[in-house]
Amino acid sequence: TFRPIDDLEPGQRLLVRIDINAAVEDGTVQDSRRFARHAETIHELLADNHAIAVLAHQGRPGEDTFVSLEEHAEILGDHLDHPVAFVSDTCGEDALSAIDDLEPGDVLLFENVRMCDGELPEEEPETKAETDLVRTLAPEFDAYVGDAYSTAHRSHASIVGFPHVMDAYAGRVMEQEYTAITAVRDRTFDGPVTMVLGGTKAEDAIPIVEQLDDTVDRFCLGGVVGELFLRADGHTVGYDVADTSLFDHQWDDHRDDLERILEAYRDRLHLPTELAYEDDDGERAEVAVEGTTKEWPFLDVGAETAERYADVVADSAAVFIKGSLGVFEDERFADGTVTVLAAMAEADCFSVVGGGDTARAVELYDFDENDFSRITIAGGAYVRALTGDPLVGVDVLESHH
Ligand code: 3PG
Repeated sequence: TFRPIDDLEPGQRLLVRIDINAAVEDGTVQDSRRFARHAETIHELLADNHAIAVLAHQGRPGEDTFVSLEEHAEILGDHLDHPVAFVSDTCGEDALSAIDDLEPGDVLLFENVRMCDGELPEEEPETKAETDLVRTLAPEFDAYVGDAYSTAHRSHASIVGFPHVMDAYAGRVMEQEYTAITAVRDRTFDGPVTMVLGGTKAEDAIPIVEQLDDTVDRFCLGGVVGELFLRADGHTVGYDVADTSLFDHQWDDHRDDLERILEAYRDRLHLPTELAYEDDDGERAEVAVEGTTKEWPFLDVGAETAERYADVVADSAAVFIKGSLGVFEDERFADGTVTVLAAMAEADCFSVVGGGDTARAVELYDFDENDFSRITIAGGAYVRALTGDPLVGVDVLESHH
């Protein structure tokens, strides 16, 4: 079990790890439910007069979404209705002087922790505890609060290093997500189980299909992931065009896996038959995948595909969605994601919405949250938990307090 934040004496100096990793478009952070959820934890901590320094990451080195957290600080402040001071480094001089000035009732957010040496790669907690990052920051605080359930599958310094050497507590998001997801994992369902699998990360999607093969009977694929599977199936789809850098490097890295999985699981994989793009007049247009020769930046699955997936959902005992089927932030390309979510909301099935962005679609398109059995802001960690794999960031909080 975790030690909850209720056990903290008031007025402590706290290092709080949250996960506000968000979609970034044209250099702008897209607000997600993660901000609102973590704001609740911080709000509670503020009520107990703690001094709060927050660590978080954004993107992965080498990706377009690997950006500063300056804008995140502003968005978090809006959700909190309390200023969040941005500190432009993580464990250097600026950070240390900001820590010196930190008073009870203050909240500060350090720069993207993945820009700091030692945060990556994944290593044992003992090794991560020896990094400069942990050695520098840990002595400055009374306790660590782990709230980043959705990053708890990563054995990074800010997730496992600090709680290895500090007094550690679980934040509200950590507690709530853990409880909700564990309850899902332990259920069995009387009928077909479907997973709608979209989003942008092939690296995440590939193990899902393999590891959930005992649990999930059919996968409905979309988003960048769907396009990569279509490319593996020989279609002229899933290439980088118009300055995107989503596809080609993933193809280079995962081509063999994509082809192997397509071969091994073809019977249970549902692929898009048409895709949507923006035509020269700025309108949504669709093209059949079969025989496509011209490459467009595709932004959604086609309407017929969405209807076909909705039928699969309607005929399921349980449906999990992870990752959206298109760029739903743009209404013209929301159809796939919204049609599937509507089918999940209407169907008489156990339904789980996962992933920070996908959960955002529920809000953006005014679904009633009560029409879903669970909504989780975790993506990779949610799937990892579903497969029954332990989460390092959870284990270390349970064992070190
Ligand atoms: C997520 O968005 O799933 C978490 O923030 C983890 O991000 P990562 O997959 O880049 O480690």
